[in-house]
Amino acid sequence: MPVALIVLAAGMGTRMNSEVPKVLHPLGGVPMLAHALAAGRALDPDRVVVVAGHGAAAVDRAVRRLDPDAAVAVQEPQLGTAHAVLAAAPALAGFAGDAVVLYGDTPFLTDATLARLTEARGRFDVVVLGFETPDPGRYGRLLASGDDLLGIVEAKDAGPEELAIELCNSGVMASDCATLLRLCAAVGNANAAGEYYLTDIVALARAEGLRAGVVRCDMAETLGINTRAELAAAEAAFQARRRAEMLETGVTMTDPATVHFALDTVVGRDAVIGPHVVFGPGVTVESGAEIRAFCHLEGCHVSRGATVGPFARLRPGAELAEDAHVGNFVEIKNALIGADAKVGHLTYIGDAAVGEAANIGAGTVTCNYDGVSKHRTTIGARAFVGSGTMLVAPVQVGAGAMTAAGSTVTADVPAEALAVARARQVVKPGFAARLMARLRAAKAGGAG
Ligand code: UD1
Ligand code: CA
Repeated sequence: MPVALIVLAAGMGTRMNSEVPKVLHPLGGVPMLAHALAAGRALDPDRVVVVAGHGAAAVDRAVRRLDPDAAVAVQEPQLGTAHAVLAAAPALAGFAGDAVVLYGDTPFLTDATLARLTEARGRFDVVVLGFETPDPGRYGRLLASGDDLLGIVEAKDAGPEELAIELCNSGVMASDCATLLRLCAAVGNANAAGEYYLTDIVALARAEGLRAGVVRCDMAETLGINTRAELAAAEAAFQARRRAEMLETGVTMTDPATVHFALDTVVGRDAVIGPHVVFGPGVTVESGAEIRAFCHLEGCHVSRGATVGPFARLRPGAELAEDAHVGNFVEIKNALIGADAKVGHLTYIGDAAVGEAANIGAGTVTCNYDGVSKHRTTIGARAFVGSGTMLVAPVQVGAGAMTAAGSTVTADVPAEALAVARARQVVKPGFAARLMARLRAAKAGGAG
């Protein structure tokens, strides 16, 4: 059965007290919305529609980046969750199949739960994901008899007996897409909030003789984020889960509580991660690589056997081949570090390729930016770049070539050649002693 995903993300998120749309606040290094999209992607949907409203332009930009195949529908004004689903209708034109509704601010749904939800479509025309809690607060209450769902009552509209119900609405729903849109169009707004409630489709479905049912999940999966405190708690929960998963899959961490992962971090078996390592989005670390303490990695790939840090920074486009070594206070950006190459200390390598087994001396800088454009540096296999070399790009250092320490290299160095690009040293015997004596005498004279 083809599936369309509708992700509701138009709400204001007033309680975040922010200029940024709620669903773009970061969780696990990526916008919160990316988590719902990733969960939904597990259903292999044919169409994905994100319904944006508040901050729609920013949400639209983020969605293009996160999931270029997703459509963004704008709901303006925001008149409730049923109204939001209807805003997705134009983007669903011509689609036949099931629709699954998710919320952009509910990041923890698991693939397994979504699979159970869609499986239940075999038994029910409308399936709602519910959870139980002794403290149901503002959640909508599910009026259920076993797995049969009779209706949903919003807390604002509920009487005392309904408020006592502990089975709550997560907001996640699945139904035939055409049926969902037809039922949403029939929803009215005569309720306490004056909104078009998606939850009302359950009663409407039953009135037509359709079957509605509930699938239960753990409350932790349906945790919605409404405040910065909840965002911080969600981040802690996310990190705790990722650390546990990493340990489970064979990653060694000496102090897991201090390691921070992103949603898409991939770390291979027998990799070793030291304390205080931060993974931004887009990082893969292969088996047996080692990331030592206090490193920051983002958009990079570390191959088998490579070592990084302590105190190294790998920025987007950094690619470390097998057994490469990047040491302390080194920054790598958009650069390939070849197999067995060593970039040991205090170095910036940007927009570059470093050949196999090359050795980059301490304090080397690829001067890649002229104030307007970026330029490339190419360093050949087994080249030896002396400490403190400034490589003014575009420039090439050939295979097996050397640069003298302290050189400012502005022209290509052929293979096997040595480039010396610094002033020749002048030695003046006794000069230092005479100079010191003069300076001391001048100071003493001035003080008296
Ligand atoms: C909703 C449910 C409630 C459920 C709860 C779970 C309804 C009427 N109520 O309540 O039963 O227990 O979620 O968290 O559905 N949104 C739009 N456009 C709108 C309104 C909302 O896109 O016009 C989006 C929001 O951005 C959010 C989601 O829909 O992602 C839920 O909206 P919210 O206002 O938070 O609904 P709740 O009152 O929490
Ligand atoms: Ca909410």
